[in-house]
Amino acid sequence: MSLVPTLRVPIDLGERSYDILIGTGLLADDAGWDDLPRSADALIVSNTTVAPLYAERLAARLATRHRRVLQVALPDGEQHKDWQTLNLVFDALLAAGCDRKTVLYALGGGVVGDMCGFAAACYMRGVPFVQVPTTLLAQVDSSVGGKTAVNHPLGKNMIGAFYQPLRVLCDLDVLDTLPARELSAGLAEVIKYGPIADMAFLDWIEAQLPALLARDKAALAHAVRRSCEIKAWVVGEDEREGGLRAILNFGHTFGHAIEAVMGYGAWLHGEAVGCGMVLAAALSQRLGLVDAAFVARVQRLVAAAGLPVQAPPMPLARWFDLMRVDKKAEGGEIRFVLIDGPGKACMRAAPDALVAEVISAHSAAA
Ligand code: NAD
Ligand code: GLY
Repeated sequence: MSLVPTLRVPIDLGERSYDILIGTGLLADDAGWDDLPRSADALIVSNTTVAPLYAERLAARLATRHRRVLQVALPDGEQHKDWQTLNLVFDALLAAGCDRKTVLYALGGGVVGDMCGFAAACYMRGVPFVQVPTTLLAQVDSSVGGKTAVNHPLGKNMIGAFYQPLRVLCDLDVLDTLPARELSAGLAEVIKYGPIADMAFLDWIEAQLPALLARDKAALAHAVRRSCEIKAWVVGEDEREGGLRAILNFGHTFGHAIEAVMGYGAWLHGEAVGCGMVLAAALSQRLGLVDAAFVARVQRLVAAAGLPVQAPPMPLARWFDLMRVDKKAEGGEIRFVLIDGPGKACMRAAPDALVAEVISAHSAAA
């Protein structure tokens, strides 16, 4: 096992501030856990895939700090990110008589993290929780910043709350068991940070892509650290998405439409975002904000990361209906995160005709 020193990225939110720890061996070592609360009960919220791999290791860490370490394994998959599955967490808490000092530990990818966080926000009107993200996507994005949610049949992540964790513990070792397709999906969210905020990071990702795909720990550590630093900056400025935070949704307006039309889980979230970034970059070009070379560069990198760059065939009217459900839409007007020159994002509406052109140019034939 190659070791990298533990990195610490602070997220500054006043009394809700916390640290993101990034390193190897974090699940095997007590160091990152020392100053977390000791309370009677802990509940590890995981799923049927991740729990058999890592729940016992986490339970061993927690056994010295909590009287009881309980576990609940949710069914795996985006299609289970719903009220019914969320209720399993409340069932476990209530059946065991857990009080409001109980600490929830989210052990899994973004689906588990979003649901565990939402459960923590709701149970007895709020109990503390810790994120232990086990996918690259969750380590670089979803575990950080306090967005929690479940899906509704009419829209993704439509029911949720802003609720910050006490800590995020990113153990890079767990990425060894991540399926290659999931690693690529996580890379989409890593790539995202370049065009919106840091072109030097985009240069670095291009150069280090083979190392990232080979799961080199030092490369992963830098990718997770820089992604978290950018996200920490954005969330520190705009925790509840009054404005700036929306830039983290680069590629997501198109991406959410793809996920919804394909049925949650058919395209991975990161795959839909990867393809969505190509469309959003192309729309930025049609609005005169970036040049064709920039779009080609984004498309090349997304493809090299193993992500789709062509949207699935879908009638234009369906695209527009789905994109109007996006949380950034205002008064029925779709607002896109666009690239306003490399390394800088903006949010604006675009003429339907231009959006339609971009969709046609970047969709697979029916
Ligand atoms: P996921 O949680 O479904 O995990 C992907 C798959 O990998 C699952 O089958 C999971 O069981 C498996 N897995 C997880 N860790 C593993 C490991 N170490 N080894 C082997 N298998 C492992 O998907 P995801 O991509 O992590 O997250 C996507 C979700 O995150 C979406 O629901 C999306 O809406 C949400 N999201 C939230 C935010 C936010 O800010 N809250 C940001 C981005 C995405
Ligand atoms: N992933 C988008 C956000 O956290 O705001």
